[in-house]
Amino acid sequence: IDKNLNLVEEINRLKKEKNAIIMAHYYQVNQIQDIADFVGDSLALAQQSAKTDADIILLAGVLFMGETAKILSPDKKVLVPDLNAGCSLADSCPAPEFAEFIAKNPGHTVVTYVNTTAAVKALSDIVVTSTNAVHIINSIPEDQPIIFGPDRNLGNYLQSISGRKMVLWDGACHVHEKFSVQKIVDLKKEHQDALLLAHPECKKPLLVMADFIGSTAALLNYSKSSDKSKFIVATESGIIHQMQKASPDKIFIPAPPMDSTCGCNDCEFMKLNTLEKIYLALKNELPEINIEDELRVKAIKPIHKMLEISE
Ligand code: 13P
Repeated sequence: IDKNLNLVEEINRLKKEKNAIIMAHYYQVNQIQDIADFVGDSLALAQQSAKTDADIILLAGVLFMGETAKILSPDKKVLVPDLNAGCSLADSCPAPEFAEFIAKNPGHTVVTYVNTTAAVKALSDIVVTSTNAVHIINSIPEDQPIIFGPDRNLGNYLQSISGRKMVLWDGACHVHEKFSVQKIVDLKKEHQDALLLAHPECKKPLLVMADFIGSTAALLNYSKSSDKSKFIVATESGIIHQMQKASPDKIFIPAPPMDSTCGCNDCEFMKLNTLEKIYLALKNELPEINIEDELRVKAIKPIHKMLEISE
């Protein structure tokens, strides 16, 4: 890439020329969130990709988000900035093993978190995101046993909120699992006026300390409407950009992970995406997400069910 190229201008030019839309997850770097046409949580990205009239969707997030967009919009070209931007949670649940797990627990409704591959979605009865999971679990008849995967922390949290006993797949998000409870206890002591906001993918000892638990969108909304002015934020630190933009006078402290000196917790896969890669993806219309029709037809059913219930 020519060093003198103004990437933001070029991306905007390509977007117009190709009728493309850039959708970004809250965990993207600030510059990508700022150039995106739409920034949202997993649910909002899926809803938006189902209704956009753009010809090209560039999904700046991780691969399962691009897959979900392609499943919902098969006639559109779905591009991602970097095919290496996977998801540890989706990777913790390979489809063949998950199929065996389902076979060992016959008669269960299979509920999966959206952080899965298309192949795992195809094995599911209904997909959830952290925004709608409680609502969807509560909509399943009480006598119906449930398998939930792949996130054991979200699964445990859903069991405690809904009172439903579920068979859980043993997966986790490596970012949300590595917050340091001790460092957060110390931070709370230092900032006694701060509220702790946590994503339900965090481990239980952290969730029991939290003042508010929710999806990225729920944490953002809570920080906007709260009359408190200081928050310790226990999710990927990218979300703080929108929190700070919405509430410039409030203070947001990233919750620290166990193993870092930088003090904040980043997903290295989310952070693989850059403005340069977005420019190249739009210019070359690559890398593109494609899903075989047979798989797509199976995977869309549980996503549609989720979208119907979430409307
Ligand atoms: P939400 O954006 O739905 O809160 O999920 C966070 C996440 O795990 C993204 O990979």
